[in-house]
Amino acid sequence: MRTQVGIVGAGPAGLMLSHLLHLRGVESVVIDLRTRDDIEETIKAGILEQGTVDLLRQTGLGDRMMRDGFVHHGINLAFAGGLRRINLYELTGGRAVMVYAQHEVLIDLIGRRLADGGDVRFGVSDTQVEGLESDRPTIRFTDADGTAQIVECDFVIGADGSRTYTRFLMPEGKVRRSFFRQYPFAWFGILAEAPPSSDELIYAHSDRGFMLISTRSPSVQRLYFQCDPETNVDDWSDDRIWSEFEARLSPAGTSVKPGNIFRKDVLQFRSFVCEPMQWGRLYLAGDAAHTVPPTGAKGMNLAIADVHLLDRALGAYYQSKDTGLLESYTDDALRRVWRGQWFSFWMTSMLHRFSDATDFDLRRQIAELDLVTSSTSAAKTLADNYTGLPLT
Ligand code: DHB
Repeated sequence: MRTQVGIVGAGPAGLMLSHLLHLRGVESVVIDLRTRDDIEETIKAGILEQGTVDLLRQTGLGDRMMRDGFVHHGINLAFAGGLRRINLYELTGGRAVMVYAQHEVLIDLIGRRLADGGDVRFGVSDTQVEGLESDRPTIRFTDADGTAQIVECDFVIGADGSRTYTRFLMPEGKVRRSFFRQYPFAWFGILAEAPPSSDELIYAHSDRGFMLISTRSPSVQRLYFQCDPETNVDDWSDDRIWSEFEARLSPAGTSVKPGNIFRKDVLQFRSFVCEPMQWGRLYLAGDAAHTVPPTGAKGMNLAIADVHLLDRALGAYYQSKDTGLLESYTDDALRRVWRGQWFSFWMTSMLHRFSDATDFDLRRQIAELDLVTSSTSAAKTLADNYTGLPLT
């Protein structure tokens, strides 16, 4: 087989790039180890930045999102015995976020790629990429039905997530550098059939650690609390979980509305960046190149921003053989990636309880939360970054 762009990974980065390229008449083949059901059912975060929402709408992917998603104009920070709202919309001059789950975006993307005749192959195995330093790289894999395949392409996109294979094709040391940070905690996440506990998200600081109230629909709620990374979900009964939420939220004068918990998971916390994000004919996008801790929900938004750049760069190449944007991809993408790293780290460290935290640290966090909810310039910094830098 021959295509223009071979894309390893059918997550938000890979599928969105394939969609954007299709709109400009550039062909791609997307492969993924996972089945379609797996991809469409994996629970991830649910906050889309303004720029992500605009891009989905402008490229014909907004129908279900505009019908089933929820636009939020503000968020709340709970700390020191109270609740304070940050008005994202006013502080940013009209920007907001959309609550719409990542797997719903994937359902929309897959549906659209297939309806447009896109070549998306699920459940492949034995992926092998070769010739990245030549101008005819190849991707070998075995199809879901067991047939060996070879795709010849002009470019390979590594969009295969944090368990990436493609990143490791870049020679370590001589080319590839890793920037990494672990955190001494994780999030316990639940999905519950319950009414919303709040009209808008609540990020809560408490002596017992962080918690977050989010939502999925009027009848399904998503909540998280900070926990030990070794936590076993089976040790946590529904009653114990709701009591923990209550203990962390009630000091702020508000409470959770409990319901039937139908899913429990533990999310690990890591910050990671791979530099550069390209080598030869390989370009990395999304979690294959970088991971953020979940606080602030930047993960998918960074993936979409990467492929927005790649789409333009590949578009310029195919239109006029101009390689300028391809050459500057790493520099262009890393600026937003590191901003996202900073923001996710900042939100995390302002709101979580670190294992070695003293009373001094707790008071310092409260001073910072007071700053971002009382100083217009500090609140604007949070709001600008939460709703996201415009896609340029
Ligand atoms: C959600 C996840 C986040 O990490 C966040 O900061 C806000 C919301 C969510 O899953 O809804």
